[in-house]
Amino acid sequence: MRIIEDIAEMAECAEQARSARHGAAKTIVLVPTMGSLHRGHIELVRRARKEAGKEGLTIVSIFVNPKQFGPGEDYEKYPRSLDEDLEKLAAEGVDIVFHPEPSKMYQERYATFVEVEGLSEKLCGASRPGHFRGVTTVVAKLFSIIRPHKAVFGLKDFQQQLIIRRMVRDLNLGVEVLSLPTVREADGLAMSSRNGYLGEDERGAAACIPRAMEAAQRAYASGVRNANEVLAEAKKIMENEPLVVLDYLRLCETDTLDDVEVVGEDKDVLLAVAAMVGSARLIDNCLIGQHKETPGGSKRQ
Ligand code: PAJ
Repeated sequence: MRIIEDIAEMAECAEQARSARHGAAKTIVLVPTMGSLHRGHIELVRRARKEAGKEGLTIVSIFVNPKQFGPGEDYEKYPRSLDEDLEKLAAEGVDIVFHPEPSKMYQERYATFVEVEGLSEKLCGASRPGHFRGVTTVVAKLFSIIRPHKAVFGLKDFQQQLIIRRMVRDLNLGVEVLSLPTVREADGLAMSSRNGYLGEDERGAAACIPRAMEAAQRAYASGVRNANEVLAEAKKIMENEPLVVLDYLRLCETDTLDDVEVVGEDKDVLLAVAAMVGSARLIDNCLIGQHKETPGGSKRQ
């Protein structure tokens, strides 16, 4: 496994793999991460390797992106565990880890940003202004350095993958975006690098998030179609946990993220939730409806 910090070296290496001049062109698959890798990330890496095939190149980027953290957020204390991450990625047969320095990604007088309007202001965007602008900017930079054929994301960050799909479409980036299901702990809590912030009591309390989502799904299954009534079932469970402070709990369209009033039969809606548990801001989501198919699936944009 090759570890590359230098941006020009990364670009050159990807270019060689892509170009048929040096033998057969190889499929390049990228998994962007901020490190502190858990099983959720590893599932993305496994899929990336499958997509790349024997001949292709699987690249994982590890970069804690300062531009997507707001003032007072956890950029400084975000967990960093490079040595363990590298061990895990080597064991998965990853070809290249791209680990650039923040000062190289954002040189002095850095001034260029990519922003997906509208979608970036909804849900997490409302509570974290500028967050998605940082995400789309760094992902656009990674795509432009590496120019992958495919990139793999997790549905745990549903809004993020939706925004990235829109960016790819709007800017004709020609990257196939794959979105994979959320990997969960035994009690249903979505795996997250931020779960490590939770104390023992907080960790127990956090499990109310998946339980609340299940309650909403049960309400739907029992025939409730009014969105507020479905949400009330979920809210009841979260309000029972004093350690959990709800940020938002919404039922919205899977493509526009606009609120719905009725959970219909014809298409799935997204139940999206964000809450503070101690110092950890946790997010989760699930689909509610008859179809429950992976939104966007692996369609080419
Ligand atoms: P990070 O939080 O490290 O997540 C990297 C990828 O792993 C994202 O696509 C995320 O959705 C996915 N992921 C996280 N937890 C998951 C889980 N429990 N199951 C499945 N997939 C999961 O998301 C980011 O980094 C950054 O915003 C990034 C895209 C790298 C841009 O900086």
